[in-house]
Amino acid sequence: MLDFDPANSFGYEVSKRYDGPAGRGDEDAAVAFLARLAGDAATRADGNARALELAVGTGRIALPLARAGVRVDGIELSSDMVDRMREKPGGDAIAVTPGDMSSVTTGRGYGLVYLVYNTIGNLLTQDDQVRCFENAARHLVPGGVFVLECGIHDALARRYRHYVNAENIALGSVTLEACQYDPVTQVIDKSHVTIGADGIFLDPIRLRLANPPEFDLMARLAGLRIRDRWGGWDGEPFTAHSWRHVSVYERPA
Ligand SMILES: C[S@@+](CC[C@H](N)C(=O)[O-])C[C@H]1O[C@@H](n2cnc3c(N)ncnc32)[C@H](O)[C@@H]1O
Repeated sequence: MLDFDPANSFGYEVSKRYDGPAGRGDEDAAVAFLARLAGDAATRADGNARALELAVGTGRIALPLARAGVRVDGIELSSDMVDRMREKPGGDAIAVTPGDMSSVTTGRGYGLVYLVYNTIGNLLTQDDQVRCFENAARHLVPGGVFVLECGIHDALARRYRHYVNAENIALGSVTLEACQYDPVTQVIDKSHVTIGADGIFLDPIRLRLANPPEFDLMARLAGLRIRDRWGGWDGEPFTAHSWRHVSVYERPA
């Protein structure tokens, strides 16, 4: 995409539309999974039940997790996304450190650090993604866990580098994904094209795709080890047919 500026991917316009009327639909299951892990961490990792969300966004997960009794902090690059969180009930209770999740620190240790919704892909090089694992590890107390939720990407196996997916088909609107993938850099350019009664909206994004084996190596470089991998938030087994993974890495005690 010519003239693409990643800093604009989650600017004001996107932040306003981000949560949509129904969210992504996996919030309850994600919060139950993360709350359980935060509770486990509290018993194992020095009694530390605090959680840190890397790229906390509009608080889609952080806010209900905080309502479930977990003290949640966040790191976030986009002030527009944080502004949307502040407008929601409880939005002021989440302490957000502005900046890049691969480098900024909150100065605290956590029993649980998590990064969801394919967001590791917003870091566009392998080095940056490794740095993100290192930063997650830096924030974990001994025995703490880092949860990564990410899609399994079929772009890597496609014959053609350009394709269009029907992402969401509803009665009054359709969202298409127009994609262009570069297998050399593992970077994909996508535009989410939403067509509905309100008009046509383009939400461009650039992501670096990686699958679990590469993430496991990044974790090892960061001093973490894989503890569990699931096919979803309900603890579904991870199989060849899984469309996403929920990976739990631990910092050895
Ligand atoms: C798909 S949204 C996910 C937001 C939230 N975690 C959720 O699950 O709804 C991606 C978020 O990552 C943020 N982001 C992108 N690159 C980032 C970076 N390098 N450091 C911190 N946040 C980043 C964006 O501003 C955006 O809020």
